[in-house]
Amino acid sequence: MAKILMVASEVAPFVKTGGLADVMGSLPAALARAGETVTVLMPRYRGVNGADFRRVREDLPVWLNGFRHRVNIDGCDREGVAYRFVDAPWFYDREGIYSSGGKDWGDNHIRYAILCLAALAMAQELEMPDVFHVHDWQGALLPVYQRSWFAGDARLQQVKTLLTIHNLGYQGRFGAAAMGELGLDQKLFHAGALEYYGDVNLLKGGLVMSDWLTTVSPRYAQEIQTAEYGFGLEGLLRERAGSLTGILNGVDYREWDPATDHYLPANYTPEDLRGKRECKRYLVEYFGLPPEAMERPLLGIVSRFAEQKGFDLIEQIAGALADEPMSLVVLGSGNPHWEQMFRNLTNWRPDKFANWIGFSNEMAHRIEAGADIFLMPSRYEPCGLNQIYSLKYGTPPVVRATGGLDDTIDGETGFKFWEYHPEALLQGVRYAIERWYDRDSWQGRMRRGMAKDFSWDRSAGDYQRLYRQLLEG
Ligand code: ADP
Ligand code: GLC
Repeated sequence: MAKILMVASEVAPFVKTGGLADVMGSLPAALARAGETVTVLMPRYRGVNGADFRRVREDLPVWLNGFRHRVNIDGCDREGVAYRFVDAPWFYDREGIYSSGGKDWGDNHIRYAILCLAALAMAQELEMPDVFHVHDWQGALLPVYQRSWFAGDARLQQVKTLLTIHNLGYQGRFGAAAMGELGLDQKLFHAGALEYYGDVNLLKGGLVMSDWLTTVSPRYAQEIQTAEYGFGLEGLLRERAGSLTGILNGVDYREWDPATDHYLPANYTPEDLRGKRECKRYLVEYFGLPPEAMERPLLGIVSRFAEQKGFDLIEQIAGALADEPMSLVVLGSGNPHWEQMFRNLTNWRPDKFANWIGFSNEMAHRIEAGADIFLMPSRYEPCGLNQIYSLKYGTPPVVRATGGLDDTIDGETGFKFWEYHPEALLQGVRYAIERWYDRDSWQGRMRRGMAKDFSWDRSAGDYQRLYRQLLEG
């Protein structure tokens, strides 16, 4: 069995802003159950702590540009996984993980360089893994340092590197001066390595230097090789197509199952759906929707308010939606424009639109359960987890057929539209609303979705096969 060292910027339950944290909180445990030895490394941000944390290594030697940084490694072991935290308060003990007041930290390249360098130092000082499995641009410097700075360490050169792309829209792009700040040889500053339109692109460096690349759904692995979805990296990804695979994310049904979910006002199962109506009643009352809302479909959204998620389409159909027999409850935060849009909608038609602007794991579970129809009209979606959760919660989703949404939803369990256009979304939503009134066939649709199994076991097996292949190759 292989020793895997994973590196990522967020891991549930320690810290979470999106689906990456869910994956990092569940894939390692699934791999451990399947017999792999897994260590997960992330920064010890402010607020990341637990009663079971202990100091694993005092003063790990982490060097950047001739300067030795003060870095300790803390850890805890849960479900057979060793979680390790880079304790470097200068970089991580701040208000906000990636940004503050809507502005990214100016030294994010250094912050995540420290994370990657700490992983390499752990490999040298504590235990050499067989595979470095790094995630997104925050982990992308690891293979870059491994193949440049550490080229003289023969043992380290044996370690295979796998980079998983969770979202190509975030590449870690910094000004040209970052090369020097990261202590990287200027020889790597060319279009075949880290240079990207005059800037330094960390994800690109990782895409070039890693042994293998994966992304989080088969469909997205194809899409990112096209100009529409490649964010300028499609050429490089096509060149690497022979070492790029899509492995669909799994989900953790111990966390997301309406039969056992302790956040819900009532539990339910495919055999006995009565509790779902209680969950809907809770939302209607909590958000002050009129009692009639119980007799019409309740649409739900839980999302980061990011460009990727299709809120421009929702903005364009909101007026028409208000005339439909429905209500909409939204949980999310991010781009202030969409935050304001949802506040305005609620002020305009409080009988139809409700919102919670912010982040609440508890409310995310309650909306998955209490809504009748889930909305995810993404412009692009590497995998998407909420549509998978909504299947399990008997909340058929209306999705745009892209990336993981296309791979996980079909016409039997949800509703798909293809063109990224407000009219296409509106038609999809209208059709779903209409179907909802046919109660018997709707329950059939709910149950088909609830019966789907996207648990990790299958996908974890795909990762295992890939590790094996890398180690044998
Ligand atoms: P992404 O990673 O692009 O944000 P995913 O669908 O993969 O999209 O995962 C999003 C995860 O973050 C889900 O677990 C979802 O419930 C959660 N989430 C998103 N926004 C919020 C929010 N405002 N409050 C609570 N949970 C949220
Ligand atoms: C990213 C993607 C999302 C995916 C998640 C976990 O945040 O936007 O589609 O589900 O990563 O892989």
